Amino acid sequence: MKKQIFLTALVINIGILNAQTLIPIPDTLSGASINLTIDDSIHQFYTGYNTTTIAYNGSYLGPTIILNKGQNVTMNVNNQLADTTTTHWHGLHVAPMNDGSPHNPILSGNIWSPSFTVMDNAATYWYHPHLHGKTMSQVVKGAAGLIIVRDAVEAALVLPRTYGVDDIPLVCQFQTIDTITKQIVIDDELDNITMVNGTINPMVNVPAQVVRLRILNASSHRVLQFGFNDGRTFNQITSDDGLLNAPVALTRLRLGSGERAEILVDFSGQNGNTYYINQYGNELPSGFPGGPSSMGDPIGPYDNITFNFLQINVVAPTAAPITTIPTTLTTNTPWSTSGSTSMNFLIQGSPMMSMTNFVINGVQYNESVINFTKQQDDVMVWNITNNSMMAHPFHIHGNHFFITSLDGGTPPANLQGRKDVVLLAPQGGTATLITKYEDFNDPIMPYMYHCHILSHEDNGMMGQFIINPSTAGVNDISNDSNFSVSSFNVNGSIEVFVNSTKETKGEIVLVNSLGQQIKKTSAEIKIGQNSYLINHPESSGVYFIVLTTENGDVFQNKLAFIK
Ligand code: C2O
Ligand code: CU
Ligand code: CU
Repeated sequence: MKKQIFLTALVINIGILNAQTLIPIPDTLSGASINLTIDDSIHQFYTGYNTTTIAYNGSYLGPTIILNKGQNVTMNVNNQLADTTTTHWHGLHVAPMNDGSPHNPILSGNIWSPSFTVMDNAATYWYHPHLHGKTMSQVVKGAAGLIIVRDAVEAALVLPRTYGVDDIPLVCQFQTIDTITKQIVIDDELDNITMVNGTINPMVNVPAQVVRLRILNASSHRVLQFGFNDGRTFNQITSDDGLLNAPVALTRLRLGSGERAEILVDFSGQNGNTYYINQYGNELPSGFPGGPSSMGDPIGPYDNITFNFLQINVVAPTAAPITTIPTTLTTNTPWSTSGSTSMNFLIQGSPMMSMTNFVINGVQYNESVINFTKQQDDVMVWNITNNSMMAHPFHIHGNHFFITSLDGGTPPANLQGRKDVVLLAPQGGTATLITKYEDFNDPIMPYMYHCHILSHEDNGMMGQFIINPSTAGVNDISNDSNFSVSSFNVNGSIEVFVNSTKETKGEIVLVNSLGQQIKKTSAEIKIGQNSYLINHPESSGVYFIVLTTENGDVFQNKLAFIK
């Protein structure tokens, strides 16, 4: 961790005198191979108090991973915890097997090494554990870090991009810390501390010029409602997964758990001044965590008030400061709804009821239930309605979406870019999203959708869906060149290819996912390439083709069959 020059100052913060501490700027990792070790650790949030934490490569939070669109990367995640974990690349467009969902567990002592091509647009993403039922406990203990993706479109713009100098990562959290033991408490109801980059009573030095702040709401629960204490206007330039079409001038920025925004703030000529990013919790509508209590929901000490979240000290400008705000950024083109299919998602549950009542479409998450199946290239419209008493940040894995309507109207300009979390208002709030999964399919491994309030997610406010291959036929999803299945689809047969180095006889069996034999054919095997036909199964699904030879060799191939 690089510390900025250390200073202490006394400021009035909600009427209390607090010593402010400069926030650390997380170290960066880049290149084709990224090594992360998640481990138990000890961090001193308070001098003299050892707080038990979980972190990636350190004692609280993790390094910032910097990726370039188009590069290949291998993430090596070494799990040194005593417990299982997963590491999810929140917002990255990756195949389900590389996503780090609850279906990609990393057992204690193991290393998980997914490799993929970075296909995302320049923006700020993040990573965090996603083990079902333990996401909240691992994240709030400190396991989270940022991912910055850079691309050519962003690089062509005149924007601040000197990391930690005029391009500053701000991981913002509400947390609960026991006032006596100073241990992190896994509870989001009464969060009694706020922190930026793991620092309580935080401050940051910014040069007197246009500065880019990359803001992540990494809180388990609460909504950020940020503005500057001097009422200044700032410009939002990205939504979760990419640049907006143009900077959007704002005086308030609202981010639910998991959401990110990059903003440009012009501090030109303000050298020597001190400002604050304030949380304006009292401006949040009822039912938004961090705002006023609704329906007897307990209220924490930082709820429903305005307070200083981050002190900003303006220091001397850099040698080549950015002094302008671009007028346009990129062109986002949402998919057309033509040929789309719509689905309805109903969020229910109330803080008055038990946690088990937090459901989507009446059901809780069940790891062995696929909630729906779509095909690659299907245009999906998600109509989400929130009938519960509180706001829920709804997140979808694997791809970005566009919000086409919010509470029945056009979403505000800063929500019109690429998104992966949408904050739904309570008591009838609605959002319509459009998305299309164009690049990945996996008939076995699902993508997740869930509420990003970590206790809700852990308690089952989550579902999962499969993206099947788009074309009718047979898709070989194994990787054995000596035993392959073609996508031959005429005459109602699947063609199976076998490359053999010996002459033998065998039997080819088509087995369904329950292990039942569906079709069978005998095979004379010659040296070289052989081909066999086996009848189509009756229905689409995942099957195995198993070849057993009389010498006892067994070859097995997994295939996705789409009728
Ligand atoms: Cu950031 Cu499925 O989560
Ligand atoms: Cu995610
Ligand atoms: Cu929720």
